[in-house]
Amino acid sequence: MGPVVGDEADWVSEALGLELASPASAPLAQRLYRALRAWIREGRLASGQRLPSSRRLARELSLGRNTVLAAIDQLIAEGFLESRPGAGTFVADVAFESMASQSGETRPLPDRTAVDEAELSSRGVRLLDFCASLDDRFGAFAPGVPALDRFPHALWQRLLRRHLHATPTQWLDYQAQGGVPALREALCDYLRLSRSVRCRPEQILIVQGAQQGFELLARMLGDVGDRAWVEEPGYHGAQACFSAAGFDVEPVPVDAEGMSVPGVPVGGASPRLIHVTPSHQYPSGVTMSLARRLALLEVAERHRAWIVEDDYDSEFRYGQRPIAALQGLVDGARVIYVGTFSKVLYPGLRLGYLVLPDPLVVPFRRANARLHREGQYPVQAALAEFIAQGHFSRHVRRMRDCYRRRQARLREALAPAVARGLRLSGGQAGMHLVAWLDDEETERTLVARAAGQGVTLSPLSRYYLRRPGRPGLVLGYAGAHEDEIERAGSWLAREWAAVTSERSCP
Ligand SMILES: Cc1ncc(COP(=O)(O)O)c(C=O)c1O
Repeated sequence: MGPVVGDEADWVSEALGLELASPASAPLAQRLYRALRAWIREGRLASGQRLPSSRRLARELSLGRNTVLAAIDQLIAEGFLESRPGAGTFVADVAFESMASQSGETRPLPDRTAVDEAELSSRGVRLLDFCASLDDRFGAFAPGVPALDRFPHALWQRLLRRHLHATPTQWLDYQAQGGVPALREALCDYLRLSRSVRCRPEQILIVQGAQQGFELLARMLGDVGDRAWVEEPGYHGAQACFSAAGFDVEPVPVDAEGMSVPGVPVGGASPRLIHVTPSHQYPSGVTMSLARRLALLEVAERHRAWIVEDDYDSEFRYGQRPIAALQGLVDGARVIYVGTFSKVLYPGLRLGYLVLPDPLVVPFRRANARLHREGQYPVQAALAEFIAQGHFSRHVRRMRDCYRRRQARLREALAPAVARGLRLSGGQAGMHLVAWLDDEETERTLVARAAGQGVTLSPLSRYYLRRPGRPGLVLGYAGAHEDEIERAGSWLAREWAAVTSERSCP
């Protein structure tokens, strides 16, 4: 079937009816969302095409209207559809093209989620719910991208070459040591000094990024049906690992003091894992208060739960000294500290680490060697030298200055909007700011308009598991040059003012 050129795609509800009639375990809203998204990407639904109204789709597909709206809202938030007040919902003409051209692709990428869901396990299908934001890696405001152009590549390559050249023969074999000893020692010194983590080198397990650490600890510490408490809003990467391991992922709200630790178990069952980002909550940016930290440690002790302390970007603190890690607050705390080099160096390096309490050290090391195989020892050795020679702390200092300047440029550019009421997060740390918005419609409209501008606007509501989430925008400022940040910030300030005034005088 070719692109539809008529005023309204009459075939759409019929084709959706067939799609939804086939057996699959995913919720209907999700299947509707995936089918429409695939058709837009494949060009079956052409740019500018009007969709049948949500009422009509609900009636013809025998679905609840909220189910239809949930799918459509998600596609609007992601820029695939746009809502034109009074006229209906249309296929956006920019969302897909801009993503493809930014990534250097000339043809649409095949939609990996368009695979027949009958082929996937129910865990696989659930996992895809946490994967929506993977495409947003381009342009100003892409969250979590460091200043890749400022990494000292020449120096790094020299170190790498030296260590590749001098690889001891035994490193060509399988390894089960928890990582190169010199790296574990260098890290241990750094963590004790800079993060007040209590550790010895034996407690450190080097993994391929925080993500592999989350996967390993989910499999090692929980059984299918166990509870994992996660922050709401929170980090989909960790949530995906917990969900894929069979955990029931339970969102716990975050307020100005961090996760508002419940006194009694949410939903009646004790948690087994509690994932938190206490130094710099992702994405809201708040720092967990001392009272909450102590309450969290107490709750973990009471429920025999493990706290997963995800300390992903705490090196970047502006003004104050970095906040000490939760792990070091009391002796023998039930905390697994997770660190990563993805923000402080670069994500493609795929190196992170766990600091494990003593009883978990040997089981985790053995399981990791069996499940994932340790490797890349020459790269780990090069990194140990990078740290020991002082290049690491020098790079952190430089990036801190760079990000402070980039954030300042973004604030300057957004100042006219802030003067008219746009609220921004504090920005004392990290690589992104949050702009809070008053309503979902403003969030949707801004995200859709940004798609054609080389600007990645990540809707804050997407970081919530319970919909609708709080509307806002997550604005990464670390990965783009200052003038690009300024241009994108000025564009956003203007667009925000335009959308806000359109909405106040319809
Ligand atoms: C909250 C949070 N934790 C951890 C990570 C790092 O993950 P990895 O080490 O797997 O790259 C990220 C990256 O975006 C993050 O945002």
